[in-house]
Amino acid sequence: MFEHVPAYPGDPILSLNEDFQHDPRQNKVNLSIGIYFDDAGALPVMGAVREAESALLGSIGPRPYLPMTGHAPYRDAAQALVFGADSEARASGRIATLQTIGGSGALKVGADFLKRYFPNSQLWLSDPSWENHRVVFESAGITVHTYPYYDEHSGGLRFEQMLDRIKSLPPQSIVLLHACCHNPTGVDLDDAQWAELVPVLQQRKLIAFVDMAYQGFGAGLEEDAACIRLLVSSGVPLIVANSFSKNFSLYGERCGALSVVCESADEAKRVLGQLASRVRANYSNPPTHGARLVAGVLNAPALRASWEQELSTMRERILAMRKRIYDGLNGHVEERLLTRYLAQRGMFTYTGLTEIQVERLREEHAVYLLRSGRMCVAGLNERNVGYVASAIASVVKS
Ligand code: LMR
Repeated sequence: MFEHVPAYPGDPILSLNEDFQHDPRQNKVNLSIGIYFDDAGALPVMGAVREAESALLGSIGPRPYLPMTGHAPYRDAAQALVFGADSEARASGRIATLQTIGGSGALKVGADFLKRYFPNSQLWLSDPSWENHRVVFESAGITVHTYPYYDEHSGGLRFEQMLDRIKSLPPQSIVLLHACCHNPTGVDLDDAQWAELVPVLQQRKLIAFVDMAYQGFGAGLEEDAACIRLLVSSGVPLIVANSFSKNFSLYGERCGALSVVCESADEAKRVLGQLASRVRANYSNPPTHGARLVAGVLNAPALRASWEQELSTMRERILAMRKRIYDGLNGHVEERLLTRYLAQRGMFTYTGLTEIQVERLREEHAVYLLRSGRMCVAGLNERNVGYVASAIASVVKS
């Protein structure tokens, strides 16, 4: 019956991560998937999460289905974190926020919603973008295009070309933007560039779909969400997918949220209902445990302060690793490829290594990067950074 089903070629990120797990070499280094490891190379359990979990396990009680929209205290805390606790849109009840299965689930629920209510709208992604963006939106039946973004030569942004392309889009086109820590390049718009882009989105009547998977890993929790605050105050039709996988180190709990900023509380109520209908059609309602942990931390001042502190430490460790790999490669790679380790930010750097060099790194040195040359800097630590630098130097040299 199923003879005609072809083999799945695999996912460029998740399948590579599985290959890494099966690699028997002791000296292997995983710089492929976007996961934060601590300086001992371990996946951290954040102190505040551990405390919230102990409290929860002490009084766990029955576990009924959550509503289709998710755990109410979680939805509220997620909305406050993304839009600001004192946001006007929030106070007036015009943001529809629902709990989703990770950031990917938020993207898919949002994509299904857009396909239903804006059936003629097409979507534009940065070139390049996270590999799965195209997959998610195409699987919702949306046609996906790209706008210019990354300048391989300089390691920076092609901002003028990006703006020109966005200025030419038909009304109701959807523009996918990364709030911070662009995946895969580590190149973000600065404040002045956001201030130039936002009026274009507004005047052209475009829909901004912002993916914020790394809040807190760029400049800080508030700073990383500044573009969202600007989009809201400028009245741009806005959808935000956010994730707690990275900033809570809760990858497997699949904690995300989707928010749609509406013009009135009544509109938000109807939009929330339709988002819930998309959830019902896919998986009925989201799981409980992770949402209770995140809400338990964000809604308890002492735990929240501890979480923010630990997140800052993680951000600072990434910056320190950027400096360490920069120093290790200094004199071994061209200047234009070297400076990007310091200029790009967040978990990723687009190294400029070729596919062949990436393959040699994996085969000869057990160092895993994505085929595109994307390196997850958060996988570096004091013990492996020197080894990684010499492995890169050796594949670049010969
Ligand atoms: C990544 O880009 O590596 C992460 O977002 C993990 C994933 O699901 O692709």
